[in-house]
Parts: sequence; C-alpha cells; structure tokens
Amino acid sequence: MEIQTLNTMIEGRGNDSSQLIGILQDIQAEYNHLPLSALMQVSETLKVPFSRLYSIATFFKAFSLQPRGRHIITVCLGTACHVRKAPRIVDEISRSLGIRAGETTPDRIFTLETVNCLGTCALGPVAVVDGKYFGNLTVKKIGALLKRYEKE
Ligand code: FES
Repeated sequence: MEIQTLNTMIEGRGNDSSQLIGILQDIQAEYNHLPLSALMQVSETLKVPFSRLYSIATFFKAFSLQPRGRHIITVCLGTACHVRKAPRIVDEISRSLGIRAGETTPDRIFTLETVNCLGTCALGPVAVVDGKYFGNLTVKKIGALLKRYEKE
C-alpha cells in the first residue's frame, strides 16, 4: 500500500473527517479490503481516533478488514431459497472452490458469502456475483458460472 496513493484519496475527499465513509469506500475499492495500516494512516492524517475508523469498518457489511476476492459470490439462504435447495448451491460452490462461506480463495479470485434474503425470492435459489443476479440456480449451473468469472 502506497502512502502517496492513500494521501491522494484523503485529499480527494477534501481532507475532511466528515467524509470518513467515502474515504473508506475509496480504500476498499482500491485494495479490495481495508488494510489496518491504511486505517492507521487515515487516523493520523485526519486526527480521528482509530477506534472510530475500526467501528465503521466493522459495522458496514460493504467493508472488509480481510482481503477479499476479485469476485464476490453471495448466495441467499433465506427461507424461500432454502426450501428450493439453496444449501446445495452453497455446498457445490464450497466444494468447487475449496472454501467455506465467509472465506476467500488463496488466489483471491473468489469470496463466498451468504445472506438471508436478496429480495428476489421468486427467483430462488438465487445468488449475486459482483452485483449481477442469477436466479433458478441448480448445482449443474455452478461449474459454468464459476468458469465464466474465473476468466474475468
Ligand atoms: S429468500 Fe432468497 S431471495 Fe428472498
């Protein structure tokens, strides 16, 4: 992580401590997670307590302190999807990638997450990859889906 890049991001938000969430979003977008060293740098530069930054970083699901994959797969395990065999979808992705929900592949290509509803219950079982919805998933469709994103 380059200090200069980080300072540019902070300056881009006007060196303004009321822009903390925006600054953290910029860092997350650049590094795919929030490195602790970056939080410390922001804390020092803007004279904001580190604990405040840490609270924000851990409160919002959009932020991650751990490195995340280039592609985020979010599978719904809500009731409607659960009864349509969503756990089998999670199992198949886990098996194919060798990770469990909440983990990232060692090559940092994929992160697998689960949620309790994606708001498209009629399409269940449903997953979102990088913001794109895939409904009526079956175990058979998983291989092609992963392959497609692996190359991107
Ligand atoms: S329960 Fe899966 S989208 Fe609502």
